[in-house]
Amino acid sequence: MSLDLSGGFLLHDPTNGFGRNTSLPAMGPSRTGPVSGSNHRPPFTIVSKLTNWDAKASVRVKPRRILMDEESAGKVFFTPELVPVANHPMVRRLGPEAVRQQQVLHLYRYLDFTARLELEAINVVASRIALGKTGPGLPEVMRADAFKLVTDEAHHATFSDDMRRQVAEATGIDAVDSGIPRFLRRLRAIRRDLPPDQRRLAMSLFAVVSETLISGILAQVPKDDRVVTSVREMIADHAEDEGRHSAFFSQYFAYLWPRLGDKLRSELGPLLPEFIRAFLEPDLRAIRRSLAGLPLGPDEVETIMADCYPAEVVSAASREAATVTLHLFQHNGVMDDSRIADAFRAHGLHD
Ligand SMILES: [Fe+2]
Ligand SMILES: [Fe+2]
Repeated sequence: MSLDLSGGFLLHDPTNGFGRNTSLPAMGPSRTGPVSGSNHRPPFTIVSKLTNWDAKASVRVKPRRILMDEESAGKVFFTPELVPVANHPMVRRLGPEAVRQQQVLHLYRYLDFTARLELEAINVVASRIALGKTGPGLPEVMRADAFKLVTDEAHHATFSDDMRRQVAEATGIDAVDSGIPRFLRRLRAIRRDLPPDQRRLAMSLFAVVSETLISGILAQVPKDDRVVTSVREMIADHAEDEGRHSAFFSQYFAYLWPRLGDKLRSELGPLLPEFIRAFLEPDLRAIRRSLAGLPLGPDEVETIMADCYPAEVVSAASREAATVTLHLFQHNGVMDDSRIADAFRAHGLHD
C-alpha cells in the first residue's frame, strides 16, 4: 500500500554524507565534554557539500516552471497512488471531479508544507549557521555552504507558492484552510516543553532530521509521466538541491553531535525519533478537512481515513522512509546511549 507521508518529500544521496579523510585540527576536541558513543569514529575533514553551486543550484540554473494545459491530454496533478483518499472507492464513486479535487488539494498541501518547512524551520537553522551564531569555531566552509542553502530554501518556498497560485488559477479549485501543518504543530509543542536554552539546539536537530529523511514517494513524482510536466519538473528541481542539502546536514550532524556532551545528548537524543515521526506522519487533520468538501457523512470520512491510514502501515512506512537518517544516527553512535535507543524503540524506529 502506498502512503501519503506528507513530509517525505526529499531525495537523498546516502553516499555523499561524510568527509572521511584526515583529521582537522582546527575543529578541536569537544568543548562540552567527552565524546562518549562517538569516540570510536575517526576524525573527519569538514568539506563543502555545495560545490559548483553556481552551476547546479535550481535558483541559479533552472527556469521558472510554467503550468501548461495538459489535463485535456489526461494528465493529473499528483501521482494517483500517493493520494490514497482520492483512490478510495467511496471517493471514486463520487465521480472524476471529486478524485481530481482531492489530488489537487494534496498538491496544495505538499506545496504549503514545503513553503512553511523551508521558511519556518530549515532557514531558521541555516541562517544561524550562516551567521556563525551556533557557537564558536564553526568551520568557515560550513558557514559558506549555509548561505547558499538559505538561498536554495527561499527559492523552494517561492516556487512552491508560485505553483500553488498557477494551479489554483488553472483549475479553479480553492485551497482548503488546513491550518498549521502537523509537523509545525508538533515541533512547536516539543519546543515549548524544553528549557529555553535547549530550544535552538532542538531546532537544529529537527533540521538534520527533515533534511536527511528520504521518501520513495517524492522520488516517484518526477518520473511519473501521468503528472503534469511543470509539477514534475518543479519537484525534480527541488529534489536535486535536496540531495546536496542532505549531505550538508549529515556532515553538520557529525560535527555537532560529539560536541553536545553527554548530558545534552541524552536529554535531546530522545527527541530525534519524535522529530522523525512529526515530519513523516500524514497530516490527518488536514486530510479530513479536504474531504469535508465532498458529499460524505462523518462516518464515511472516518471509514476512508481508517482504510487509508492504518496505524501499523503508517508506522512501517515511517521506518522505511527514515532508513538513511537512522543510518546517520547509528554511524554517529546515537544509539549507544540506551535511553536514546529506547526512545527510538518506543517509536518503532529501532529493534
Ligand atoms: Fe528545500
Ligand atoms: Fe533543503
